[in-house]
Amino acid sequence: SFAQSTLHLHTDQADTKINKEIYGHFAEHLGRCIYGGIYVGENSDISNTRGFRDDVIVALQDMDIPILRWPGGCFGDTYHWKDGIGPKDERPSMVNIHWGGVTEDNSFGTHEFLDFCDIIGAEPYININVGSGTVQEASEWVEYVTSSNVSPMTDLRKKNGREEPWDVKYWGIGNENWGCGGNMTPEYYSDLYNRFASYCGGARYKIAGGPNIADYNWMEVLMQKTMRHPHLVQGVSLHAYTFTTSWENKGHATDFGEKEWISVLNNTLNMETLVNRHSTIMDKYDPNKRVGLIVDEWGNWFNVEEGTNPGFLYQQNTLRDALVAGINLNIFNNHADRVKMSNIAQTVNVLQSVILTKEDEMVLTPTYYVFKMYSVHQDATLIPSNLKTGKYKLDGKSVPNIHASASTKDGVVSITLCNLNPNESESIEINVTGDDFASANGQIITSDKMNNYNDFGRQETVSLKDFDVATPKDGKLTVELPSKSVVLVQLQ
Ligand code: AHR
Repeated sequence: SFAQSTLHLHTDQADTKINKEIYGHFAEHLGRCIYGGIYVGENSDISNTRGFRDDVIVALQDMDIPILRWPGGCFGDTYHWKDGIGPKDERPSMVNIHWGGVTEDNSFGTHEFLDFCDIIGAEPYININVGSGTVQEASEWVEYVTSSNVSPMTDLRKKNGREEPWDVKYWGIGNENWGCGGNMTPEYYSDLYNRFASYCGGARYKIAGGPNIADYNWMEVLMQKTMRHPHLVQGVSLHAYTFTTSWENKGHATDFGEKEWISVLNNTLNMETLVNRHSTIMDKYDPNKRVGLIVDEWGNWFNVEEGTNPGFLYQQNTLRDALVAGINLNIFNNHADRVKMSNIAQTVNVLQSVILTKEDEMVLTPTYYVFKMYSVHQDATLIPSNLKTGKYKLDGKSVPNIHASASTKDGVVSITLCNLNPNESESIEINVTGDDFASANGQIITSDKMNNYNDFGRQETVSLKDFDVATPKDGKLTVELPSKSVVLVQLQ
């Protein structure tokens, strides 16, 4: 029969690695992400291991979380790491000025974060305070964590119960220094970056605080100034959130119609333009693509749920969020030559979370299931592809019906496909000439309504299900993608 879309996979051209770090997450001291979401303390009635929620540990392990960024965010440039080490009852408190003005008791600090990463099997990514911190404080943090020499900092670490250094590769130097991280100009920040980075030698992969969305000037100045000392910079971050309309009009997380559906998906697709244009600037200074574009904050940012603290950024998560995650991750896969890491904001109870908690209950969101489904791409090899597809249009906006990426690993070809159309199924012919496949299988995330979500105390309405796929014949296979769905096809 006649397929509406076609996808050609160029398996012979597969050579770019999709870093597993593209599937990364971000956990800030914000609202109930750390406290209540990840950490409840050893004395909690909620089942925990050394204070970390057992249900959340298992969920993150099952999702194959590869890397976790911490402690912020805007919080990061207010955080003084020495307040978060040593006996808990002696740790000073602080006020979380950006997020609700709540008092932070510093019971979750460096040791707790690194212990948690170890338990869930994720690499740690620590973000250093530039905005209100000193070079000395930064360099001592790196030394405390990574050094095996005898020194006051390593003695302090040992006194606090940790003999061996931790293996922390990824360090961010400042966060949003154009905004909450100090309201700096790119010129000033770039000089400061070079200064901080010069004294953080133990940080093997240093990430400079990059632009907000389409601030191409920031990228230009930062690359120009930091690449004078190429050994000081391994990555540059990019932050780009998706709103229904704009920062001023974020829209509702669950209460929306088809207009808001297409608007959010259309805004999400802007990530491709951002990655392309920032990469073009980076290419000028780094033609061999050594420096990674690290999209360490992305995802949907909607109005907070009614009745919750506006400073806590708590929002629900629907099938629309699943599509947004699927599209962004396809984009990062397809640009894996430059995008070396991404971290969705944020892991638990904040913005586009994979997990929501309420007391001792836990919900896995539609976004969770996308990360679980897409984990097959982690450390796989990208298969370049050509997609021909029609448009879904509404309200003067137009998005492609289908969005896709593909990879290969251990002899298995994995194709992830999003059907953006909320009303029509779409048949797609997948062309994989050159390979002989004996079997095929699939998975799907969909639901009968576009704004379905999972909630506490009831059965899931959006989850991961098996999906029948026919084995390819003569290198061709047609798949019928239900409306508003995210689908994985695997060929072997
Ligand atoms: O993720 C929430 C906030 O968004 C972060 O703290 C900040 O970096 C960004 O503005």
